[in-house]
Amino acid sequence: PIKIKNICCIGAGYVGGPTMAVIANQCPDIKVTIVDLNAQRIADWNDADLTRLPVFEPGLAEIIAATRNRNLFFSTDIEQAIAEADAIFISVNTPTKTYGSGKGMAADLKFIELCARQIAKVAKTDKIVVEKSTLPVRTAEALKDILEHTGNGCKFTILSNPEFLAEGTAVQDLLFPDRVLIGGEESLAGKNAIQALVDVYSKWVPEAKILTTNIWSSELSKLSANAFLAQRVSSINALSELCEETGADVQEVAKAIGMDSRIGSKFLKASVGFGGSCFKKDILNLVYIAKSLGLNEVADYWEQVIIFNNYQMKRFSEKIIKTLYNTVSGKKIAFLGWAFKKDTNDTRESAAIYVADYLLSEQATITVYDPKVSEKQIQYDLNYLESRPAVANIRGVSLGLDPYEACKEAHAIAVLTEWDEFVDYDWQRIYDNMMKPAFVFDGRGILDVKALSEIGFVCSVLGKSTMV
Ligand code: NAI
Repeated sequence: PIKIKNICCIGAGYVGGPTMAVIANQCPDIKVTIVDLNAQRIADWNDADLTRLPVFEPGLAEIIAATRNRNLFFSTDIEQAIAEADAIFISVNTPTKTYGSGKGMAADLKFIELCARQIAKVAKTDKIVVEKSTLPVRTAEALKDILEHTGNGCKFTILSNPEFLAEGTAVQDLLFPDRVLIGGEESLAGKNAIQALVDVYSKWVPEAKILTTNIWSSELSKLSANAFLAQRVSSINALSELCEETGADVQEVAKAIGMDSRIGSKFLKASVGFGGSCFKKDILNLVYIAKSLGLNEVADYWEQVIIFNNYQMKRFSEKIIKTLYNTVSGKKIAFLGWAFKKDTNDTRESAAIYVADYLLSEQATITVYDPKVSEKQIQYDLNYLESRPAVANIRGVSLGLDPYEACKEAHAIAVLTEWDEFVDYDWQRIYDNMMKPAFVFDGRGILDVKALSEIGFVCSVLGKSTMV
């Protein structure tokens, strides 16, 4: 049997950081070192001021405070961390390819391959290599090939251990996971490696929740889980438009269907569209894999989830324009929220970016307030789309210091993220300082529409039929 005493995690991002912090917290006898190529990110993780950690997650700062420099270390010395470790987690980003064959669909595995080559080069002792990143099914085969052909003759055993945490609730999800999935080879070495990783998780996760499978099932399960989750959002969003046209209320419909135990109540909230770094890229990846296997019907089925999500973001933007008398040119629109969901500072693929892009093309001016997002990040996100020169984005979008300033003299407010604090603002004060009629477009269905209407707002909620 193997006992894991020293872990190296490559990639200090939204997954690597919280995941390893929780392992270090739950297993004080394991030394965990998180490494990254990005020296600034490592410096931020080592910042004495815990409000400046690169990842915001409720409860994370406390865990970092308890473990950092005890048995959790952040370092840029990748080689040393690999050399010392018995288990190496690969937790680097796997974005959609932006060039060449499979552009816009396939996962770009160059970061993964770099990790494999570096591990092979440095390793002098046998290693368990754990795929923590979300990877296309059969990546373990390629990893093994690289490791075995370029290594120093040490043995590498590959496991797949995809991460199911959700941003915004990462710490809770890691402490109390629905399941931990570990896939590995059928061989004796594979079985021993699986057991070693089971022993790590079983320090705090009940054994019944630790699922072991063959490696391909594990790889494919992560892509499948994200496809299912995104599909639910697109399904309820597709119904939201039907509700608006028929007088049904999507929140009532969601409640009614969600009480069916076969359907379940979670992930049935209509919204302006899903965002985040994973759903779109993982479904595109699934679609690409299906297409490259000649499974065109399978590919089309899942691609529709993304096509619909793009449509929903566009529909929300168009509704704003149509309601504001068919033009937003020169009008100020205040955005409440920029992060892709509440309780995170992550903005990747946020619906807010696409709605802003659409409104900017219609010559609107946008002021944003988000409790956790900086002006620099907003400009970065907009420039990434390459829709217009950076100066035009700077001219068109600014950050409000507080929500009241952001909404001042706005023609309309659009709620793009479901932050709890938005509900509790002094909406009378906001109303008094806005242009009239004062429009509110609730893209998340969180506001008390009745109270807002009594103040004088003209409210439009996704999935509700009439302008209340
Ligand atoms: P991220 O972009 O936040 O972090 C990745 C880090 O890896 C970056 O800091 C980057 O500098 C570093 N990196 C890249 N190549 C490297 C190399 N060769 N050596 C050292 N460091 C390197 O990405 P995130 O969000 O943590 O995602 C990582 C993986 O986990 C992805 O495959 C993603 O699909 C998956 N995942 C993400 C979830 C999320 O909620 N963000 C949830 C579950 C899985």
